[in-house]
Formats: sequence, structure tokens, C-alpha cells
Amino acid sequence: MRRLEAVIFDLDGVLTETSRQHFLAWKQLAEGLSFMLPDEMNERLKGISRMESLEIILEAAGMTDRFTESEKVELTNFKNNIYKSMIKKFTKENLSEGALDLLVSLRENNIKIALASVSKNAPFLLNAMGIEGFFDAVADPNEIKRGKPAPDIFLAAAELLKVPPHNCIGIEDAFAGIEAIKAAGMIPVGIGRKEELSNCELVVSGLRDVNLKLLMKFIEN
Ligand code: BG6
Ligand code: MG
Repeated sequence: MRRLEAVIFDLDGVLTETSRQHFLAWKQLAEGLSFMLPDEMNERLKGISRMESLEIILEAAGMTDRFTESEKVELTNFKNNIYKSMIKKFTKENLSEGALDLLVSLRENNIKIALASVSKNAPFLLNAMGIEGFFDAVADPNEIKRGKPAPDIFLAAAELLKVPPHNCIGIEDAFAGIEAIKAAGMIPVGIGRKEELSNCELVVSGLRDVNLKLLMKFIEN
């Protein structure tokens, strides 16, 4: 029997709406390479690490072999600088609706809280939005071997919390992230639309629709 001991959050597209900024930054980079990044690619890039995202974009542009490894690093740095300029003024105002209420209620009820984001900008955002104090653990993307859809980052978070994966709920906006949660043996909650998150049983439109009672009931069923 499962019981709720911890909630492990993704960041981009869950606690804040930065999926959009990530995509806009990639779009700008692609434009510089004379490639128009189609909007449909947004879903495919969600949850995917910086370098893997670049590889996907270069493949879509038919440019897989055009750049050396060090040029690819320069391209990802270029994208990251655009992205950083977009989030530099983030404050608590940029938290998704309902995020703060949920974090407060988990804390008050002694449910552990962790972050499982592959973004290297995550510590900056937690701090800028004033929520880092809620987190019992933040998994370090530099320490994991495989990105989402592999379970590594969620398992790392559960291990830091010392909570068995089957008593954790993972909250994600990415198809790859839901796969990662399931592969970790956790229960996923999707943020977004069922059309994109067809691999997830419970999908809600935002954190405003998530509360402790719902999570407890869902994991115990
Ligand atoms: C994920 C985002 O959370 O982090 C991806 O969904 C992003 O779009 C990835 O590529 C890596 O982020 P960063 O900030 O390290 O480039
Ligand atoms: Mg995400």
C-alpha cells in the first residue's frame, strides 16, 4: 500500500511558466541559424537537457554534422544567455497560480518536498521566486547520468529525501518527465493537457487544481 510521504516537483512549466521562455530562446538561436523552429517542437523539448535539446533542433534543421563539439557548447551558451536575460527579473510574481498554497500546505502537513529539474538555472529561479526554503532536497542535474525520460533525477531526489519512490508523487508538464516518474516507480501528476500527456492518468491544467487531499487520495488508490 502506498502512502504520500513526498512530492517531487519539476520546475519549468510546473512551478513557473518558463517552458515558454526556454522555447523562445531556442527559437532565437534557430533563427540565427536561418531555421524556423516550428511551434510543434515545444512539446518535444520540454524536460530535455540543454545539449540534448540542441541536438534535436540541429537534427530537425538538417544540421546534425555542421558543428564541432566546442561550437555546440558555444551555441548552448548563446541560448542560455538569451534565456537568462528573460528570467533575470523573476520574483514571486512569476510563481504559477496555486504553487505557493500547495507548498505551504505540504509543509504544514509534514509531506517532504523536493525538486527534480534538469535545468542548471533551477537554483537561481528557486531563490528569485523566494521558494527555496520549502525544499528538503534539490537533485543536482550535474550528478545524474541520464536525463528524462530516464528516472535518474527523480530517483536522486527520493534518495536525498530518504523516502521510498513508491511513496512519492512526481509533478511534471513534460511527456518525458511523466515517463521518468513512472520509470522511477512513483505516481505521476501531469500539468497541461491530456492530448500532450497521454502517458499520464491524472492531468490537471495547473497547480491551482492540485491540493493535498487530491494527492493523498490519488496515491492511496
Ligand atoms: C528543463 C526544461 O526543465 O530544463 C528544458 O523543460 C530545458 O526546456 C532544461 O532545456 C535544461 O535547462 P537549462 O536551464 O539547464 O538550460
Ligand atoms: Mg517541465
